Amino acid sequence: MVEAHKDPVVAIFGASSGMAFAVAQIYAQKHARLFLIARDKQKLSQMERDLRARGASEVQTLVADLGSASGARAATELLRQRVPELDVVLIASGVLGDTDQLLNDAQACEQLFNVNVQAPLAISNTILPLLLQQKKGVLALFSSVAGDRGRASNFIYGASKAAVTAYASGLRARLRDSGVQVLTIKPGIVATAMTAHLPRGPLSANPNAVARRIVKAIEQRADTLYVPGFWRWVMFVITHLPEFIFKRLRF
Ligand SMILES: NC(=O)c1ccc[n+]([C@@H]2O[C@H](COP(=O)([O-])OP(=O)(O)OC[C@H]3O[C@@H](n4cnc5c(N)ncnc54)[C@H](OP(=O)(O)O)[C@@H]3O)[C@@H](O)[C@H]2O)c1
Repeated sequence: MVEAHKDPVVAIFGASSGMAFAVAQIYAQKHARLFLIARDKQKLSQMERDLRARGASEVQTLVADLGSASGARAATELLRQRVPELDVVLIASGVLGDTDQLLNDAQACEQLFNVNVQAPLAISNTILPLLLQQKKGVLALFSSVAGDRGRASNFIYGASKAAVTAYASGLRARLRDSGVQVLTIKPGIVATAMTAHLPRGPLSANPNAVARRIVKAIEQRADTLYVPGFWRWVMFVITHLPEFIFKRLRF
């Protein structure tokens, strides 16, 4: 649990993500000390101004490409030099990709796994010693409902998120008695830049509403967050469909 008497210290990797920035805005209102890591300097400056205006007690930015394990590790080591302690580490960077293109472009496929898997695992593995030393803190990783079962339309992205889900699940079990909590965030469809090319249907959630649920899950030290919540039941049905039915569904 974040201690009530001091400003929470929050680090966000992929801070320019629509959902992550909405989370940062909530923490700014709680007077948090924010450490933002993203690859776009201009976006970082705009975010810094916004978050200071909202009440953040401190905002530090770090420009880093999180498209490789080595880049992610280097950024995390730089962060470690700047922060004495951390209450929350949120790893949000990710790419969706286009399945047809990914099937025909080995480099794009490798890059998707670099951003969605290699980098988040490198960040997590590099920050863990600090969290373990503190015996507290929440490590929150963005997975996706897409990681629960590979669907015909987006199974390569889904495979990358399944890796994150499995990693977070195992790490959570391993850290059970350490004081460090691992949260797996599994959003459904959220209206951010990532889904801007898709029609905004009734299932498309607002990033601010999603961010409120994420902050609550962090405060409650939850294990897994399906967000919006109905996705837990949708995915329960989808993961229990027999394969001979599931493979006929073209979605
Ligand atoms: N939106 C959805 O429907 C949805 C559903 C389930 C899960 N998710 C997951 O939720 C997380 C947040 O996504 P979002 O919806 O908020 O999408 P978003 O707004 O498109 O954010 C994606 C973030 O990843 C960053 N990024 C991508 N490649 C990077 C790289 N090489 N180095 C550094 N940063 C990089 C982007 O940076 P730039 O700003 O510089 O491009 C951006 O900040 C992602 O992990 C995503 O897979 C999203």
